[in-house]
Amino acid sequence: MNKNYYITTPIYYPSAKPHMGHAYSSIVADFFARFKKMEGYNVFFLTGTDEHGQKIQRAAEKNNKKPLDFCNEISKTFLDLTKTLNLSNNDFIRTTEKRHHNSVQKLWSILESKGEIYLSKYSGWYSVSDEAFYLEDEIEEKNGIKLAKQSGSQVEWLEEESYFFKLSKWENKLLELYNNNENFILPKSRRNEVVSFVKSGLKDLSVSRKSFSWGVQVPTNKEHIIYVWLDALTNYISALNYPNTDDNLYRNYWPADLHMIGKDILRFHAVYWPAFLLAADLPTPKRVYGHGWILSGDEKMSKSKGNILDPIEIVNEYGLDPLRYYLLKEVSFGNDGNISKDKLISCINSDLANNFGNLCQRVLSFTEKNLSLKIPENYYFNKDDLNILNNFTNNYENLIQNINNQNINAYMNFIVENMFLANKYFNDQEPWKKKNDIKRLHTIIYTSLELIRKISILLYPVIPNSSLKALHIFNLDEKNINVDSIKDNEFLKPNLSINKIKILFNKINNDD
Ligand code: ME8
Ligand code: MG
Repeated sequence: MNKNYYITTPIYYPSAKPHMGHAYSSIVADFFARFKKMEGYNVFFLTGTDEHGQKIQRAAEKNNKKPLDFCNEISKTFLDLTKTLNLSNNDFIRTTEKRHHNSVQKLWSILESKGEIYLSKYSGWYSVSDEAFYLEDEIEEKNGIKLAKQSGSQVEWLEEESYFFKLSKWENKLLELYNNNENFILPKSRRNEVVSFVKSGLKDLSVSRKSFSWGVQVPTNKEHIIYVWLDALTNYISALNYPNTDDNLYRNYWPADLHMIGKDILRFHAVYWPAFLLAADLPTPKRVYGHGWILSGDEKMSKSKGNILDPIEIVNEYGLDPLRYYLLKEVSFGNDGNISKDKLISCINSDLANNFGNLCQRVLSFTEKNLSLKIPENYYFNKDDLNILNNFTNNYENLIQNINNQNINAYMNFIVENMFLANKYFNDQEPWKKKNDIKRLHTIIYTSLELIRKISILLYPVIPNSSLKALHIFNLDEKNINVDSIKDNEFLKPNLSINKIKILFNKINNDD
């Protein structure tokens, strides 16, 4: 069985510092990376920055900086964000790195030598903000300004000599790819969009630019630089040391299991990228998931709209785990979602503090009073105990399926429901009234501790820091947790000491 798992985020444009949208994609990807790790996979999780092209060149000019100086500065804020968000990424790739440069030129040379690229002339609309070409019917005019309908970003007319990639040639092969692998593009609704886009006929794609210089040169023609999307998409293999296909990273991890992206860049990932790979005779990724947007009001949060929420401010004010929990639980995954401080606070107060945090504290102090913080030895499960414990065993396969289908909400619902049930169990069993029935008293404690352990493990991908604090009760740490162990109702070894922990989440006063 192949126990390797490769997951990526988009590489973000360092045209301005990161916002909540970027944080969202990265947290979602980290959630899957951590779950897979906990399932025993060797995970490779990649993120980084996309530093070439006209968008970046213009942003640098606007700031009176040389492009590379500008990129160094802003890329660092994205790198810092990986720490702030506690991402478990294995690498952070920058497209201005030499390893990437070589890889892009090699891929270009292969495409050219296979006759997949030809020189001609481009004339049409281009959006620098999206770094994308648009057809006449994808453009609308508002207040005398031409905009791309899909993104709302301004387009300009472009006419210049350009190399073209024979995208039209790959129409049928792409449709075959979508047909043979029903889940290549998720969610389903977006798959249909892509399929109809491809069915409506693909035009060859302009893949080089002449009118500016910030990018990777076409190896055979110094006047051209390679289209920033061909450059950027290659990051997914350059980080695996492509073109060295004998390299262990490439051999173990390509094709990627999951490209996690926002729906704004689906066409690049689900059409252009597999077409480039097919043309170069390289394997195509297994899945592209285009999640929804984090909105600000009812608009997409974006740098160009200036309506951004700074993830670092939220983390400083409320803490990282509350933010992670909120984004994973409250956004209906695949759809657009709004950030609301009220909902964030309610997640902290009800789910995290009242439900999970409180469960840990109550059970721990009860164990301290009655058993001096030892795991009970003398337990015997009845129907009530088994009923709730077996919830995890019985739903194990479902949970794995939820993860494999990127069904975050079902996974989160299971956790929320079981946090509630575990609290209810402790209340209903009234262990404080069982002082005369030691065996029952011990069984309730044992069961409750097992429930805390199981829930904490499932919370690991969601709120890793807090989960590990809770798992410290049982002397478990990142290196020795396995999701498999939630099926075990008697994982905890009798008589071992457990640790007290500090309050996990403080309630927030929402009066002001
Ligand atoms: O497109 N809501 O970079 P980018 C949710 N460099 N996610 C959002 C978001 C929002 N409001 N705004 C951004 C690029 N994102 C290219 C990618 S990949 C080879 C090259 C997230 O800085 C989401 O994942 O514009 C989106 O697809 C990505 O950031 C775009 O980031
Ligand atoms: Mg963008």
